[in-house]
Amino acid sequence: MLGFHRGRRLRSNPQQRSMVRETAPLLREDLIMPFFVVAGNPALRREIASMPGQYQLGLDALTEQVAAAVDQGLVSCILFGIPDVKDEQASGAWSEDGIVQKAVRRLKRRWPELQIITDVCLCEYMSHGHCGILTPEGRILNDETLPLLAKTAVSHAQAGADMVAPSDMMDGRVAAIRTALDEAGLTQTPVMSYAVKYASAFYGPFRDAAQNTPACGDRKSYQMDPGNAREALLEARADLEEGADLLIVKPGGPYSDILRTVRNHVSVPLCAYQVSGEYAMIRAAGINGWIDEKAVMLESLLGLKRAGADMIITYFTQTLLRDGLVR
Ligand code: PBG
Repeated sequence: MLGFHRGRRLRSNPQQRSMVRETAPLLREDLIMPFFVVAGNPALRREIASMPGQYQLGLDALTEQVAAAVDQGLVSCILFGIPDVKDEQASGAWSEDGIVQKAVRRLKRRWPELQIITDVCLCEYMSHGHCGILTPEGRILNDETLPLLAKTAVSHAQAGADMVAPSDMMDGRVAAIRTALDEAGLTQTPVMSYAVKYASAFYGPFRDAAQNTPACGDRKSYQMDPGNAREALLEARADLEEGADLLIVKPGGPYSDILRTVRNHVSVPLCAYQVSGEYAMIRAAGINGWIDEKAVMLESLLGLKRAGADMIITYFTQTLLRDGLVR
C-alpha cells in the first residue's frame, strides 16, 4: 500500500535529479549582455557605483570589453547609449553618428556574427530625461514621439543592428517602427518589444548608469502600473498585432507571474529582463557575504526560465561566461 507520496525517491542522487529536472540548464544562447556606451573619451571605463562590476564604456573600452566577452563565448548583447549632448528632440538617439550607431558599426565590423540588439528609447538623449517629447506643462506627447522612435530604430538597423528593442512604452510605437523599417527596406530586422514594462523602482541603478532620471515627474503615465496583471496581456497582444517578433517582460524576478501568464497566452519567443535593481541586490548581498552569490545568481535566472522566458537580458551574462557557468 502506498501510504504517502515518496517525493524523495527521485531526489536521491545528482543523476536522478538531473534526469527529472523540468527546466533545462542555461545556455549561452539564452543570455543577452547589456553594455553602456558613452560618447566622448573612447578610453573611458567608469564603474557604476550602484552596479559593481558594470561599467560605462567609451568606444575603445567597449571594444576591449566585448573582445573579452566574445572570447568567453558571448552570443548576444544589447546596447544603451549615453550621448555627450542632450536636447529636446533627442537628436543623439537618431543621428547617423550617434554613439550607439558608431558602436554598432565598430562592433559589427569586427564581429559580424555577434548578435547586437539596440535599446530604442529617447530618455538618455532628452535634456529632461523622459522617453517622449515633453510639453511645457509636463505632458508627454505620444503620437508626436513616434516618428523620432522610428527614425532611431531605422538608424540603428542601418548601422548594422540585428534587432531593435523599443523600451519607451509609447502607444503605437511598434507599428511606427515596423512600418519605417519596412519602408527603408529593412524587412528582415526583428522588433523585440518591451511590451510589458512596469513603472518599477527596480530600475534605480540603471538610471545612474544611463543618466536618464526624469528631471521632473516620473514614468507612471507611460510605464505600467505594478498592480496590473490582465493589462499585461492587452499590451502583449497589442504589440504582436503591431508587428512585434519577440516580447520582453520587465522587470523579471518580481514579475515572474506576469511572465508565466504571458507565456501561457502567446506563442512568440519571450525575453525576461533581469533589471539593474535585481542585479544590484544580488551583488550587494554577495559582496557582504550574506548570500552565496553564485548560487543565488543561477537560481534567479533558472526561476525566469521556469516562469517561461526563452531568453534573458542579464548583467550577469559576462560573469556566467567567464566562470564557465553556462554551456
Ligand atoms: C530606457 C530603459 C530603462 C531600462 C531599460 N531601458 C530605464 C527606465 O525605463 O527608466 C531599465 C533597465 C534596468 O533597470 O536594468 N527607457
